[in-house]
Amino acid sequence: MISFAPIIPLALAAVSVAQTYSATYLPSNAPQQSEQGQSGTNQCGSSSNQTSECQNAYINAVDDFCLFAPPAPGANATIGDTERIEVSWCIKDGYGTRLIPNGTITGAYFIQTPDFVQITGAGNLTNINIPQGDEGGELDPHGADGNGNPIGGLVFSSAFGSLAQMHEWTNYMSDTEFCFRACKDGPNAPALCQHIYDVMGCMWNMPGNYNPGTFERCLADSGEPMGVYGTSTFFQGEPTTPSAHPAPNSSSCTTFTSIGNNLAISTGTTTSGVSATTTGASATTGTAATRTSTSSNAAQTGGSNGAGARFSFGWETLIAGVAVIMGMALAL
Ligand SMILES: *[C@@H]1O[C@H](CO)[C@@H](O)[C@H](O)[C@H]1NC(C)=O
Ligand SMILES: *[C@@H]1O[C@H](CO)[C@@H](O)[C@H](O)[C@H]1NC(C)=O
Ligand SMILES: *[C@@H]1O[C@H](CO)[C@@H](O)[C@H](O)[C@H]1NC(C)=O
Ligand SMILES: *[C@@H]1O[C@H](CO)[C@@H](O)[C@H](O)[C@H]1NC(C)=O
Ligand SMILES: *[C@@H]1O[C@H](CO)[C@@H](O)[C@H](O)[C@H]1NC(C)=O
Repeated sequence: MISFAPIIPLALAAVSVAQTYSATYLPSNAPQQSEQGQSGTNQCGSSSNQTSECQNAYINAVDDFCLFAPPAPGANATIGDTERIEVSWCIKDGYGTRLIPNGTITGAYFIQTPDFVQITGAGNLTNINIPQGDEGGELDPHGADGNGNPIGGLVFSSAFGSLAQMHEWTNYMSDTEFCFRACKDGPNAPALCQHIYDVMGCMWNMPGNYNPGTFERCLADSGEPMGVYGTSTFFQGEPTTPSAHPAPNSSSCTTFTSIGNNLAISTGTTTSGVSATTTGASATTGTAATRTSTSSNAAQTGGSNGAGARFSFGWETLIAGVAVIMGMALAL
């Protein structure tokens, strides 16, 4: 019986961590930096700028979302190497972030569920500094030391009323694919925005549509929490990896012909800063068609062989190890 003693405070701590957050911000009242060791800022103003160090991301709509990606290009800018310093890249102007150059995103699917909003899709994410061939990794507000990856990254959405911080979120990025889920604060948020499956990739964690060629927003069910199958919970490293859950059923879908902004993709080498060629069309977010459907999202639910297989194993563990070593070094 004594052997159970340490478990009780741990369990209680887990419950209280799930429900309480040290601070709640809006972009208008966020501090310069919300976490120690933060490379960028949460005071971003409203002028988008391609050297912005803003680390506030918004998940509002299929034509109004942001992704975390490296601040600078280079072979050493893999998501794994830069997870602590990613900056925010947005489709929409006005947040003081960088802009995702027009045409970078080739397909995007926004779903709004009772518990979260989510954007999934495909693109040439080398345009936002992810090195070609990078299998990518997972970003979340917890990180090895609780300060988040990126450190101090904040996520906001107005999908559930007025703009609010979403304390639980998870974002996978590779050079060709992205997925970002932001959960409404509440008891379901930690499980539905679970961040422990960092090597499993987008299609396992956020089964949904990743096809290029379409931009769509839908209402959807919340679906099942990643990794939880009835009463059993899968953990990475277990010998058998269960299939991804089916994509949550969706309805009231609206498709868009394109999403974008006026920022052209810059041409030339990534290091010499060759100037951009402007292609000059205006931002287009036109609604092409509305379909109402109760069928499930045309899903690529791909099991563990989806994008997940492309994720390298263990870098979060590695980072944790490095953090411990650094902590020891600091203590000396
Ligand atoms: C862009 O952002 C950087 C970093 O915050 C800042 O130093 C620079 O002055 C900004 N440039 C413009 C044109 O606003
Ligand atoms: C990548 O290498 C360049 C050139 O050596 C350096 O300036 C930059 O800080 C490095 N980036 C990271 C994330 O280590
Ligand atoms: C992605 O964009 C880069 C730079 O614009 C280009 O060199 C590369 O060929 C593109 N990759 C794909 C798969 O289209
Ligand atoms: C999704 O919708 C189909 C058809 O309406 C239904 O049979 C199925 O049970 C639904 N799935 C979930 C998980 O609700
Ligand atoms: C933005 O991209 C869309 C779709 O790719 C295109 O129709 C539009 O002309 C582009 N606008 C600019 C400014 O490049």
